[in-house]
Amino acid sequence: MDKRLTFIGGGNIAQAILKGLLKSGYHPGSILVADPSEAQGQLCEDLGVSWTQDNAEAARDAQVVIFCVKPQLMENVATALHGQLNDALVISVAAGITLQQLETWSGSQNIVRSMPNTPALLGQGMFGLYASDRVTSSDRETTTALLSTVGAVRWFDQESDIDAVTAVSGSGPAYFFYLMEAMIDAAESLGLEREAAHALVTQTALGAAVMAKEGAADPKTLRVQVTSPNGTTHAACEHLKEGGFEALIHGALTAARDRSIQLSTS
Ligand SMILES: NC(=O)c1ccc[n+]([C@@H]2O[C@H](COP(=O)([O-])OP(=O)(O)OC[C@H]3O[C@@H](n4cnc5c(N)ncnc54)[C@H](OP(=O)(O)O)[C@@H]3O)[C@@H](O)[C@H]2O)c1
Repeated sequence: MDKRLTFIGGGNIAQAILKGLLKSGYHPGSILVADPSEAQGQLCEDLGVSWTQDNAEAARDAQVVIFCVKPQLMENVATALHGQLNDALVISVAAGITLQQLETWSGSQNIVRSMPNTPALLGQGMFGLYASDRVTSSDRETTTALLSTVGAVRWFDQESDIDAVTAVSGSGPAYFFYLMEAMIDAAESLGLEREAAHALVTQTALGAAVMAKEGAADPKTLRVQVTSPNGTTHAACEHLKEGGFEALIHGALTAARDRSIQLSTS
């Protein structure tokens, strides 16, 4: 039987996980969503999932509680449930909220901290996970099973790794969108129609991602394989290199990691 599962906050990430669970055959009657918004409530009810505006009522009998509210609301929302989570497995998706903060506010010690990303909305997310030694292997397996319905899942040994995860996969979709945006603009300036440029760039990004993920070689080898000496790709890559491409990416990820640390300590 599916575990009784409660979402606190029923917005984008909650809806993504919820839909993934239902698609994977999770029983809708085992899921309850708490959210003040009637519009979110309607979305849940359309999926056959119960909805309430009362977080405490929603958490009362839950075996798993997934916190999906904005980080700035986490303190108030978790503190209001202090001591009421009993033995439930608690999963937080809030960016920059530490395990220590979650434990203090909620009174639970059975907490998994996760960092999702937006492709979870399409079942293609990437979740970085961290939990203290107090979380049992059975609860870790439950977390993996739940979140795997909307993406890949990877556990990390140190909480500080979550700041790097935030910089790489949490913020990562935006870097690829930025590159695609720049390529579409450049393609237009080379004379292509915008719609054609969009089709060429997005399919190329998808094809390259699939090759890098599924292929036998790492991205560097793949790049070298398609770069003939003095050919067109070589001309483009040399230009990127001369412009400091690698240092720029390194600096960008470092800036994101540093901002994540800053947010979690402020
Ligand atoms: N979206 C992402 O790709 C992404 C990536 C990484 C991490 N995250 C994390 O995921 C969390 C949720 O993000 P999201 O994009 O899903 O945000 P969202 O769409 O704004 O969803 C949050 C939901 O929580 C509801 N809410 C507000 N106050 C509440 C309360 N007191 N009790 C219960 N629910 C309440 C909001 O309702 P109202 O709209 O009525 O206020 C909204 O429906 C954040 O902590 C964020 O850091 C998201």
